[in-house]
Amino acid sequence: MRIDFEHILNKIHQKVTAIDDKGTVASYIPELAKINKHHFGIHLRTLDGNEYGVGDFDKPFSIQSISKVLALAQAASFVSNDILKRVDVEPSGHPFNQLALLEIENGIPRNPLINSGAIVIADILISNLKNPKEDFLNFVRDLADDDSINFNLDVANSEKITGFKNYAAANLLKSFNNLENSVDEVLDFYFHQCSIEMSCKQLTKAFYLFANKGHCLLNKARLNESIIKRINAIMLTCGFYDEAGEFAFEVGLPGKSGVGGGIVALLPDKFVITTWSPGLNKKGNSQLGMTALEQFTSKTKLSIF
Ligand code: DON
Repeated sequence: MRIDFEHILNKIHQKVTAIDDKGTVASYIPELAKINKHHFGIHLRTLDGNEYGVGDFDKPFSIQSISKVLALAQAASFVSNDILKRVDVEPSGHPFNQLALLEIENGIPRNPLINSGAIVIADILISNLKNPKEDFLNFVRDLADDDSINFNLDVANSEKITGFKNYAAANLLKSFNNLENSVDEVLDFYFHQCSIEMSCKQLTKAFYLFANKGHCLLNKARLNESIIKRINAIMLTCGFYDEAGEFAFEVGLPGKSGVGGGIVALLPDKFVITTWSPGLNKKGNSQLGMTALEQFTSKTKLSIF
């Protein structure tokens, strides 16, 4: 039976935007605190060639930690399994910026999607790219087939001024010899990476290859199929930090959140879906985005389980 995605998304939009408790906009990066929490958008792209958008699906927002998946994909294309010598692939069960485990586990981050793990991935990219920031941005533009994508320098700078925990994480990594480049250089790259702005529509396009065995939508850019399989596994087990279990339980898709309020999730061979609602829950994931995705997989019965 054909699913009426347009009808389902409109219903979800209507229902979810009526919820009063929209969560709290991230304020530890001051520039992000300026965002109106009433924004809400969803974009769905199916592998059979259709796309659907509701609400603010075309408005760019700060992708923040969603960028960690794209950085991991680019790093994996350079160093493949060698990444595992420097970053593990276990869920942390802790917040994204927690430092205690890093010290106990001798400077090997639990996974590449928590901040310390993403900082190691940033270090790998700096060591392998000629013009790291520009080359990473071009990689993202290629995946999305869209040259209008850019850094937001105000957001990058805002995080640089207030990113004390990330400086602490990078210094700990350096003390365990798990950073090749300087703390300042690695964090400058990491803050820029996180500041990239994309809309729900651009994100569903950039993540298309994760649902399509490594092949992008319109262009020739592609990644090895086994890297895609592994990154999807990491998204499922680690994409929502100490809420990864809850997301698997309620939604049942690999995905990744960011403190800008975005969530990208996908069902291999079927679709990619992105939601944006800037208010976060206590674990730092978009409150209404999680609700919308739970409704989407419940109504369509499309999940990996
Ligand atoms: O490093 C940070 O804290 C931010 N640039 C990214 C954190 C983030 O998006 C966590 N995701 N839910």
